[in-house]
Amino acid sequence: MAEVERELERHVTGRTEYVTTAARHLLHAGGKRFRPLLVLLAAETGPDAASDDVVTAACVVELTHLASLYHDDVMDEAALRRGADSANARWDNHVAILTGDFLFSKSSELTAELGADAVRIQAQTFTRLVEGQIMETVAPAADADPLEHHLAVVAGKTGSLIATSALYGARFAGAPREVEEALAAYGEIVGCAFQISDDILDIASDSDESGKTPGTDLREGVPTLPVLLARRSSDPADARLLELLDADLTDDALHAEALGLLRAHPAMAEARAYVVDRAHEAKALLKVLPEGPVREALDAFADVVATRTA
Ligand code: FPP
Ligand code: MG
Ligand code: MG
Repeated sequence: MAEVERELERHVTGRTEYVTTAARHLLHAGGKRFRPLLVLLAAETGPDAASDDVVTAACVVELTHLASLYHDDVMDEAALRRGADSANARWDNHVAILTGDFLFSKSSELTAELGADAVRIQAQTFTRLVEGQIMETVAPAADADPLEHHLAVVAGKTGSLIATSALYGARFAGAPREVEEALAAYGEIVGCAFQISDDILDIASDSDESGKTPGTDLREGVPTLPVLLARRSSDPADARLLELLDADLTDDALHAEALGLLRAHPAMAEARAYVVDRAHEAKALLKVLPEGPVREALDAFADVVATRTA
């Protein structure tokens, strides 16, 4: 990870001081480095775990993720990210969008070093990221199940890049094809669970823990699993919450009331149970690996998603 960190710093450099500052802003603000860590862990399943390509792939996924955060904060009108001002708040939407583009270009340049297959995978991942993010902004079709629509959004906007992280790790370390496939499927499920736990934390935690403003999804009307599960309730005690979920929650008082009711709602425990189930499902895919420290680490990685508090 120390090498990945050094490489990220080196790649996030523009021709001008201004671009470098904007592009390093969120890189330096923090972040869990969840995706590059998964690349390195998945690489431990192959003979070339320490290859330069593995480190390059780890940088590619973090840069792609970083790029998407600049754009996401514009779309979500988020003011805080990684405990710092978002780029749109610190500068403006134009700077945030173009800095995201800049980082995505850097990521693409680096992907080219990994060969044509990696470029194709990167392009397919980008397509899924964008389609997931676009689907999030449109209501499900009248005959579609809102929950299924939501899970497709989550798979696109988050499952995709985390699946690719695991796949890249296995591929560039020279792991067998069946391991690569199992790890890609594992990454997809862990990624979806990660996004849903993130959405739960958006409701449950305060900004000291998450580095973001709590209740941002609720304020912006972005559907999340706890909200969709609460919406299914026909309990009269939930009437006020359901009314609020249809109201304009940019109003501070209404937003605080909705957040309070949602935090206390059984849908939160149901959503947490869903995440735990997905983590189990992901761990079952690891049985293609021999027992030992690598499998244990990937097992623990899935558990962290189910139990994280930040
Ligand atoms: C965060 O979700 C957003 C994503 C995981 C994906 C965003 C994807 C794009 C903007 C399209 C791709 C763009 C580029 C340049 C690669 P969230 O808003 O639910 O999470 P948050 O709480 O961390 O904001
Ligand atoms: Mg967001
Ligand atoms: Mg978003």
